[in-house]
Amino acid sequence: MYDASVARSTFDMRQLAGKRWPAPQWHHETIGAELSGPEPKDRMMSVVARMSAQTAPDFSAVDWDRELAAFAVRTPEDFPAYYRQPFHSVPGGYLSEAAAVGDRTAMEAIYQEAHPRRSLGVRDEIAALVPDDARVVVDLGAGTGDGAAAIARRLPAAQVTAFEASPFMIIAGRVQNAGVQNLRFEQGLAERSGLPSGSVDAVAITLVLHECPNAAKRSILAEVHRVLRPGGALVLCDTAQDDLHGYRGFYEPYREEWARFDPDSLLRETGFAAITAHPVPSPLWSRVARKLD
Ligand SMILES: C[S@@+](CC[C@H](N)C(=O)[O-])C[C@H]1O[C@@H](n2cnc3c(N)ncnc32)[C@H](O)[C@@H]1O
Repeated sequence: MYDASVARSTFDMRQLAGKRWPAPQWHHETIGAELSGPEPKDRMMSVVARMSAQTAPDFSAVDWDRELAAFAVRTPEDFPAYYRQPFHSVPGGYLSEAAAVGDRTAMEAIYQEAHPRRSLGVRDEIAALVPDDARVVVDLGAGTGDGAAAIARRLPAAQVTAFEASPFMIIAGRVQNAGVQNLRFEQGLAERSGLPSGSVDAVAITLVLHECPNAAKRSILAEVHRVLRPGGALVLCDTAQDDLHGYRGFYEPYREEWARFDPDSLLRETGFAAITAHPVPSPLWSRVARKLD
C-alpha cells in the first residue's frame, strides 16, 4: 500500500532539475517554500507514486541538444515572465526536459480515476466536443500533444496543429504521437500565434488557462477570437477552480486567481457567444463557445 510518509522522506523535486536550460536559483527557493508549507501533500505524493509505477514513453533516441537548436527560441529569456515559473515544482517548469518526458505519465496518474482509460480516455471525451465538420483545428498550449492527437484521430479529414510554447514539450510530443499523420506541432505563444485572422475552424484549449495570469487569459481568448472563422468554435476545458488547492506541493503560481476565475464572463468579454457547458470527466469542466461574426 502507498505510504505517503515514506515517499515524502525520500522524494526531492530538485532531482528533476534541467541540464539544458538551467533553472534560476529562485525556482528552488519557490519550490522549497511550496513543499515546506503546512498543507497536506498526500495528493501530490500519490501522483508521484503513480507516475513511478508506470512505464514512461521511451525518449532515449532523442538528441535533445540537436532538436532544441532547431527552434527560434533559445533561452528562458525568450519567454514572458509569467511563463518562466517552476510549474508543478519542476525546476525550469515547462522549459525543462523533466516536464516533457513526465507529461503523459503525470496526466495518466492525475486522471487515473477520471476515466477507465485514464487521461487518454479523458482526451477522447474532450475531442468529441470539437465540431464534426472542422477541417482546420488548433490545440493551443497543446503540451506533448495527446489531446491534439485525440482530435486528429477522431477527425481524420482535419489538419490538426498542436501549438505549444515549450520546445521541450514539442520534442517529446513528436515522439509520443509519431504515428498520427494529420497532426503537426508548432512552437509559439498562444496569445501571439501568428495564425492568419479567420483561418481556423476550431480551437481547443485544455488545462492552459489555470497556468496563466488574468491578463494572459484575456489575451489568449482574444487571440482565439481573431484566428477563428465566423461560426468557428472554441472548446475550452480546464480543472475545477478549487482543484489546485488540493494539490499542495505542486507549485501553481496562479492558484489564487484561478479560484476566482469565471470562464463565461471572460468568454463574453472577448466576443464569444452561444456558450454551452458539456459533461466531461470530473474535476474538469468544459465550455464550447462560438465566434458569431
Ligand atoms: C497543463 S499543460 C496542458 C497541456 C495540454 N493542453 C494537455 O491537456 O495536456 C499546459 C501547457 O500549456 C502550455 N502553455 C502555457 N502557457 C502558454 C502560452 N501562453 N502559449 C502556449 N502554450 C502555453 C505549457 O507549456 C504547457 O505545455
